[in-house]
Amino acid sequence: MKVISGPASKELAEKVSALTGYENVPVAFKVFPDGESYVRLEGSVQGENVAIVQTTCPPMQDGRLFQLAFMADAAKRGGAVKVTAVVPYLAYARQDKMFLAGEGVSVETVAQMLKATGIDELLTVNIHSEHAFKEFPFPAKTVSAIPLLAEYFVQKGFRGAFALSPDKGAMYIAKQAQEVLGGEAGHLDKQRDRYTGQTKQAAEGLNVKGQSVIIFDDIISTGGTIVGAAKILREQGAKHVFCACVHGLLIGDAKKRILDAGVEEIVGTDSVPGSVSKVSLAPLLSQELRAQK
Ligand code: R5P
Repeated sequence: MKVISGPASKELAEKVSALTGYENVPVAFKVFPDGESYVRLEGSVQGENVAIVQTTCPPMQDGRLFQLAFMADAAKRGGAVKVTAVVPYLAYARQDKMFLAGEGVSVETVAQMLKATGIDELLTVNIHSEHAFKEFPFPAKTVSAIPLLAEYFVQKGFRGAFALSPDKGAMYIAKQAQEVLGGEAGHLDKQRDRYTGQTKQAAEGLNVKGQSVIIFDDIISTGGTIVGAAKILREQGAKHVFCACVHGLLIGDAKKRILDAGVEEIVGTDSVPGSVSKVSLAPLLSQELRAQK
């Protein structure tokens, strides 16, 4: 197998190559003056199974999806046998059904497009819901980075911390973290208005007085969910409040708002390279690629 370094995940791909021992194929890329993307594989993939590592987080998620499609096409034209797209953050995954009349199912459109360019299977990380894969035209798998994030806090001395999910539906995330942290786990309740996007949070039956609490979520986008949760935890008298997310999109001033709400540290992964991506997905992805070689 060879690992193709997508422009959006160059460092991560290189770490995966180093951990697996699979040869790295660099990619030359540029954006033409009119905004169109160009990619060229700088190594042979003839007769190889390849893994293209390319996250599709903002900014430029559409451009990154097109780069991925162009790399897959180039790999197949270059004689690759099987193309696995390794997409840590899969753009449009939250539009996995028609919530309102007149909508489409964006994530299925993305998958159909990727299939057409030669992608044979997809590996992603903490997709918002596996429901997204239901109508995918190729096999797709999601793996969880929550244990890696929890381990970060164990290394910082917070073994036994309370693992909190900001939403009952994501309690499985708090439970995965609890298995590593060894403390208690719980959740808040969150309701979102589909028209306004406004959310309401409540903490029925939760008591975190005097505890170190880590809020675990798959995505931080505007930061509204974490800000609301942190306020509740501070009101309850939590001793320390941290947050950990797999995909730290942190749109606009989200980071500042979260820190201003009393969160002591924000920890994310290199699914979204940036100032909070302190945990690498490389060991997790390498393990998966080795298993399917
Ligand atoms: C939603 O259900 C997700 O798990 C996240 O909680 C949500 O996407 C976070 O969005 P925001 O940061 O805008 O509140």
